[in-house]
Amino acid sequence: MDLQGKKIVLGLTGGVACYKAAELCRALVKQGASVQVVMTAAATQFIGAVTMQALSGNPVYTDQWDARVANNMAHIDLTRDADAILIAPCSTDFMRKLAHGACDDLLSTLCVARPRRLPLHIAPAMNVEMWENPATVRNLAQLLEDGIKVFGPAAGAQACGETGYGRMLEADELLEDLVAAFQPKVLAGKRVLITAGPTFEAIDPVRGITNLSSGKMGYAVARAAHEAGAEVVLVSGPTALAAPRGVRRIDVQSARQMHDAVMGQLAGQQVFIGVAAVADWRVSNASDQKMKKTAGGAPQLQFSENADILAAVSASAAATGAPYCVGFAAESENLIEYGAAKRLRKGIPLLVGNIGPQTFGQDDNTVILFDAAGHTVLPRADKLTLARRLIAEIASRLPQPL
Ligand code: CTP
Repeated sequence: MDLQGKKIVLGLTGGVACYKAAELCRALVKQGASVQVVMTAAATQFIGAVTMQALSGNPVYTDQWDARVANNMAHIDLTRDADAILIAPCSTDFMRKLAHGACDDLLSTLCVARPRRLPLHIAPAMNVEMWENPATVRNLAQLLEDGIKVFGPAAGAQACGETGYGRMLEADELLEDLVAAFQPKVLAGKRVLITAGPTFEAIDPVRGITNLSSGKMGYAVARAAHEAGAEVVLVSGPTALAAPRGVRRIDVQSARQMHDAVMGQLAGQQVFIGVAAVADWRVSNASDQKMKKTAGGAPQLQFSENADILAAVSASAAATGAPYCVGFAAESENLIEYGAAKRLRKGIPLLVGNIGPQTFGQDDNTVILFDAAGHTVLPRADKLTLARRLIAEIASRLPQPL
């Protein structure tokens, strides 16, 4: 549960996207957060306070003058022990209020009264013309300057029938952004290149050789690196997974394509993490046309060796001083011995070993870190938790700027 023990003030302002706030509230509670909903009068035109009370499990506040609050200072009381305020949806008008420090309803007043340490995030939701209006653009610039984080908006079809930027993000996207905002920014400003998933080596246009890698670990590492503040490029073989938010994904099929994509992206990268299960061999006599079943018997496939991407990146790092290279190894036996030897063979400072192939496609994993000092077993955990731990381990090993 990514928000276990977190106290979130969820503010709703006027907009059709209030219907998504109901789902968001549920998602926050499901992730362990305690949610306090505050609604403006306009928000109550779009969704009932009763719905939000039922979903959050807490009384909803809509009015500055609420007799339920003993000292009548809801704007103070609701923010002092909160961990974040998220306004979703945030209307054009509420952006104006925030930009100018307005205090004319409970939600705007509590935003102004929040302690400086309390992060304020907004999820804008409005018509495309409203989003692009120069007044909104001015207010947005002011909010960003004031340190307010802006989640979205997305582009697409709008409730009003027009199309463009201004759609509020979906509940799962907002949840991902909020969880990311809580993670320590240990890779802020760093550029990280990651490979993930299997490769697919063609035999003919409809057949090929691949492996059981699901891509889950590589995608979790990409998400964790992005959460830590890095600019992330993910070179991915074929998987069924959606790219983590904020991560640039380059899709490839074969090991050769993965190699070329990685080499093309290498300049300026500070970290390279090779999580992909890259095929060691490709079919050198692959057919351009679908092979037909003939009386002549089974096709005779010939293989040639693929380049080792990690070793190539590591050789480049040895020459230029960057990037810091991390490899993964799935072994079916003798993990400690093979892992340590593989780290040295690949010439990399850090290697993450796991017992495969039973980890492929699973949500949990046990991994061992190999570095020059020896090996460390990380406690069994889900892949995202392990990925966050790995990112912290990498960040602590990066060369410090002079
Ligand atoms: N790797 C790579 N390019 C390849 C093969 C592997 O970049 N052509 C990377 C993987 O992404 C992983 C690491 O090398 O980070 C280890 O992969 P693995 O398949 O375990 O290693 P191999 O070199 O193939 O060793 P072996 O077959 O002896 O286990």
